[in-house]
Amino acid sequence: MSMSSSNAAAKRVLVTGGNKGIGYAICKKLLEDHADVHVLLGSRDPSRGEQAVQSLQSILPESSKDRVELVIIDTSSDDSVKSASETVSGKYDSLYGIINNAGIGFGNGFTDTINTNYFGPRRVCDSFAPFIIRPEGRIVNIASASGPNFVSRCQDKTLVEKFTSPLSFQDGSVTGDGIDKLDELAKSYDGQTDYGDEAYGVSKALVNAYTALFAKANTDLIVNSCSPGYILTDMTRGMGASNAPEKGTVSPVHLLLNDEMKTLPTGRYYGSDAVRSPMVSSKFGTGFIDVYKWTNLSNFFILALLPRTRRTCIRRSLNLDNGIEEILSCSLDYDVLQSNTINKK
Ligand SMILES: NC(=O)c1ccc[n+]([C@@H]2O[C@H](COP(=O)([O-])OP(=O)(O)OC[C@H]3O[C@@H](n4cnc5c(N)ncnc54)[C@H](OP(=O)(O)O)[C@@H]3O)[C@@H](O)[C@H]2O)c1
Repeated sequence: MSMSSSNAAAKRVLVTGGNKGIGYAICKKLLEDHADVHVLLGSRDPSRGEQAVQSLQSILPESSKDRVELVIIDTSSDDSVKSASETVSGKYDSLYGIINNAGIGFGNGFTDTINTNYFGPRRVCDSFAPFIIRPEGRIVNIASASGPNFVSRCQDKTLVEKFTSPLSFQDGSVTGDGIDKLDELAKSYDGQTDYGDEAYGVSKALVNAYTALFAKANTDLIVNSCSPGYILTDMTRGMGASNAPEKGTVSPVHLLLNDEMKTLPTGRYYGSDAVRSPMVSSKFGTGFIDVYKWTNLSNFFILALLPRTRRTCIRRSLNLDNGIEEILSCSLDYDVLQSNTINKK
């Protein structure tokens, strides 16, 4: 294995789906604000990837244009991910981190959505995690508020229990880490028709559960997931999102680089402002303070009392940030339970 001399001391970070949208904005932010970061920009399409790399290089001084390079990686394909990991590990001794950003949105059916959004990060972690520096290398999984939203709407109590206590997947697991059981659940959706347009939410709920299980099995890595917020990209065009992609970089970059993360338990799900959704056994315990810090308290209580559809209407008409909806769905339904499970262990 050889290592490029100019990058020998760099923090090498793989960003999947880095050729556009939030992934591209993350690559740009890392290059602009963090001189010690070397970006491996993942793209499934060589020409779209090359174009993105060139566009990023155009904003870098001549001496540091080699801080960004293209990695061809289609996260929906075992072969492509394997080949990408062989390329990267053949060139570099180690990676500092991965941002599992590549994803597809609503309307793509269960099979494709889960293959990309859940099994994509699974494949990437399986192939690349062995090269991540330990301790303190990092993995950031880009999830979505749609994950907790799905869980909060779900009528299947057993499924809700599993998603809200992901470590329960470990029971009876062959590997002991529970991830094989989570895979089984993911595969159970294969071929099903997505009548309720739930595939995206299911895929992100799976990613959050995976984050908790993978973190538990890799205590020498810092592994978390987050929502980037409601961001205007090709994925959300025409759906009312207005935040620029740069706004979606806040939480992923914080989880990837901030020193504070070294002191916190991992396997957590964070909001788009990088503040973790409240983690308490009672809705009005410590979590109360977190909620207060996160958003305007009166908005929170007014909206909390309303049915979800009404909340969404009001949120949109007041042009409130998606964060409030995230708080309501994550803190009250999902994250509280997930975090309690983790914290008890
Ligand atoms: N936008 C939002 O409001 C929002 C909210 C919550 C979560 N998210 C999540 O944020 C992430 C980025 O989304 P975005 O809004 O930036 O969407 P986007 O603009 O559509 O970008 C998606 C990126 O993922 C890549 N991709 C898709 N399938 C892939 C595959 N099989 N292999 C490799 N790359 C693949 C796309 O590549 P191509 O150019 O080749 O298609 C593109 O680079 C996704 O995980 C999404 O679920 C977004």
